Amino acid sequence: MDQVQKPAVRRAVCPGSYDPITLGHLDVITRAAGLFDEVLVAVGINPDKRGRFTGAERVQLITESCRELPNVAAIEFTGLLVDLCVDREIGTIVKGVRTAADSTYEFPMAQMNRRLKGIDTILVPSAPEWSFVSSSLVREIAGHGGDVTPFVPQPVAERLA
Ligand code: PNS
Repeated sequence: MDQVQKPAVRRAVCPGSYDPITLGHLDVITRAAGLFDEVLVAVGINPDKRGRFTGAERVQLITESCRELPNVAAIEFTGLLVDLCVDREIGTIVKGVRTAADSTYEFPMAQMNRRLKGIDTILVPSAPEWSFVSSSLVREIAGHGGDVTPFVPQPVAERLA
């Protein structure tokens, strides 16, 4: 078998919409930060969709929420995720999966990203305590004046209060 080339610095990207970051996201990012030398949290911006937070606000909230993770940085991106990976010499995509529906959504994207540029994806099963938490539910609860503090990092809770 051919020798597998291992990069000197092992980099991963945790892509997502992060509108806003939740404690479920933070758990996956923290686990990725333990497995890789550098982790880039990449906020995908869909120009046709207006979110609750702007891209810059989402990046700011991620940066504040990941303050204790020195090997984690956050950016916005547009275009293909695999192009970002190639530009920044990132070899692996890390994504959390909460449910079978998430796996069904993630599998073809993972296979396509590998086919496009050879970028592999690691799917991390979410911790059970976060398997029902999503950014959309957080937005809905906060929009109706409910308490989201158990589900989001403190900077997000403060911003939504
Ligand atoms: O939070 P989400 O909805 O799971 O995030 C989806 C995101 C932003 C990670 C995904 O849509 C993405 O990677 N968009 C960039 C465009 C792209 O590369 N699409 C996948 C082609 S296989």
